[in-house]
Amino acid sequence: MSDLESRDLLETGGTCGGSSPSLRRPLCIIRSDTKKKRKRRSGQQRRHKAALHEGNMTKQVSGSPFLKPFFLKTPVRVVTPRQQRRHTLPASEFRNLTPQDAISVFEIEREAFVSVSGECPLTLNEVLNFLGQCPELSLGWFEEGQLVAFIIGSGWHKERLSQEAMTQHVPDTPTVHIHVLSVHRHCRQQGKGSILLWRYLQYLRCMPGLRRALLICEDFLVPFYLKAGFKEKGPSEISVSNMQFQEMEYMLNGQVYARRNSGC
Ligand SMILES: CC(C)(COP(=O)(O)OP(=O)(O)OC[C@H]1O[C@@H](n2cnc3c(N)ncnc32)[C@H](O)[C@@H]1OP(=O)(O)O)[C@@H](O)C(=O)NCCC(=O)NCCS
Repeated sequence: MSDLESRDLLETGGTCGGSSPSLRRPLCIIRSDTKKKRKRRSGQQRRHKAALHEGNMTKQVSGSPFLKPFFLKTPVRVVTPRQQRRHTLPASEFRNLTPQDAISVFEIEREAFVSVSGECPLTLNEVLNFLGQCPELSLGWFEEGQLVAFIIGSGWHKERLSQEAMTQHVPDTPTVHIHVLSVHRHCRQQGKGSILLWRYLQYLRCMPGLRRALLICEDFLVPFYLKAGFKEKGPSEISVSNMQFQEMEYMLNGQVYARRNSGC
């Protein structure tokens, strides 16, 4: 066999019936190897296609371009959004409070105020009343279903807050009286009070007919509310158990104050 003939045979795969017996075996090996490879390759391709055909029921895994892809045996279920079920509570949620939240509200309030001053801004009955009459003027921050901070407000109709504002809701007025802002003791000094207040004020801005928010606070909290964009209106006529308060005002059509860089 000439060089040309043998190259031709090698390139075409050759036949087992070649004239030289010494060439027959290697040629057959070459051919049978190629056959095996082709068979193996077509088998792999069939499996690959079948896997794809299963509608992505299996997941192709290949970390490197030099590794052949392989398939996880465990099928990956394709779940449509309609089939998805929520098994966990949302990590963080802001919503209006309802009378059903009154107990959680009061627990936070009691811990925050009774232990400090012996007085709560709102009794449990007052919380229930306000959440029944004007839930849209409240905002709660829930983490995994647990109340961590809240604000309760009601409507007010006079320029300054007076004693009866503590228990009264006057509907359809341009002024919101913020009765209480409180953060669960485990969550204080983390920016939550400032963030909730900021969200609440943004929320009030979007409510038609509202013009301003008023509140009273003790002297030590004046800087906190000034930083939130409130202005001092001077000493309040309201007193509770000989405690004196400053009255603060926030104009809802004024400048939005910059939110703290809280990482939330
Ligand atoms: C007051 C309160 C709402 C603040 O919420 P918070 O999440 O702890 O506060 P933030 O982390 O958002 O902001 C803290 C800022 O307010 C100041 N602050 C918070 N509580 C304060 C307090 N008791 N005395 C003085 N300053 C206080 C901090 O010094 C801080 O200022 P900084 O940013 O310059 O450090 C919260 O501490 C609380 O619920 N306290 C008990 C109830 C209460 O007093 N409510 C207010 C009257 S209605």
